Amino acid sequence: MRILVLNGSPKRDVSDTMHITRALIEGMRDAAEQDVLTIHVIDQHIEYCTGCFSCMRNGGTCVHHDDMRVILESILQSDLLLLSFPLYCYGMPAPLKALMDRTLPLSSIAMQRVGDRYEHVGQADFSHLRYLMVCGCGFPNSTRNFEPAVAQFKLMFPSDHTIVTVPESPMFNAPEADEVTAPRLELVRRAGRQYAETGSIEPGLLAEIGSPMIPEDTYAAIVNGTMA
Ligand SMILES: Cc1cc2nc3c(=O)[nH]c(=O)nc-3n(C[C@H](O)[C@H](O)[C@H](O)COP(=O)(O)O)c2cc1C
Repeated sequence: MRILVLNGSPKRDVSDTMHITRALIEGMRDAAEQDVLTIHVIDQHIEYCTGCFSCMRNGGTCVHHDDMRVILESILQSDLLLLSFPLYCYGMPAPLKALMDRTLPLSSIAMQRVGDRYEHVGQADFSHLRYLMVCGCGFPNSTRNFEPAVAQFKLMFPSDHTIVTVPESPMFNAPEADEVTAPRLELVRRAGRQYAETGSIEPGLLAEIGSPMIPEDTYAAIVNGTMA
């Protein structure tokens, strides 16, 4: 499978979230060979979308001449688009959002009704693509924290999406937390294997992966330096 990882963390390879993403990909590699291309979005020259809509009317050519041309090609050549990002203000970091805005050339201005909502009609063929979101965050409460980012991902990619969220993710970069992070990464690896073998991850396993690694109060006390 050709996997394109768009790493939205400005911390590049030392991103907390990338620990989760790497474990997921290792799991996929346990099942089969994988062809992985990782793009650190922060290093790309990506202008903001101007909202002119010309790309949606002219077959897909953007007014900007920057790295998005190659990135759009890479997206279309992939089987799996994997967005790896930390939660920033309950959403994705700005550089990744700028990239998402610039995927507009893949769609035309025409709208079509799909179920109970409208979507733009594609002007490139991305029907083969599957979508994975991997998101870490700094708070311990795992439920409502991720809701806006999860909702946005599902609306952007209504079909073939799978979402992995992990709270308390700064612990992945704390060697003293290995005792709890290593088993969590093992679960993620198992999820990766399951994904590669079946195309989905059991909801129970996703819930386990998305639960706090240590009790919320303990985590907050460690962060606040108030551990007894
Ligand atoms: C600008 C900014 C905004 C953040 N907003 C949130 C947030 O809304 N919720 C949350 O739980 N953590 C938030 N965090 C914490 C990060 O999600 C957390 O530190 C994460 O582990 C960083 O992952 P990374 O190393 O992959 O970049 C924020 C961090 C920054 C720098």
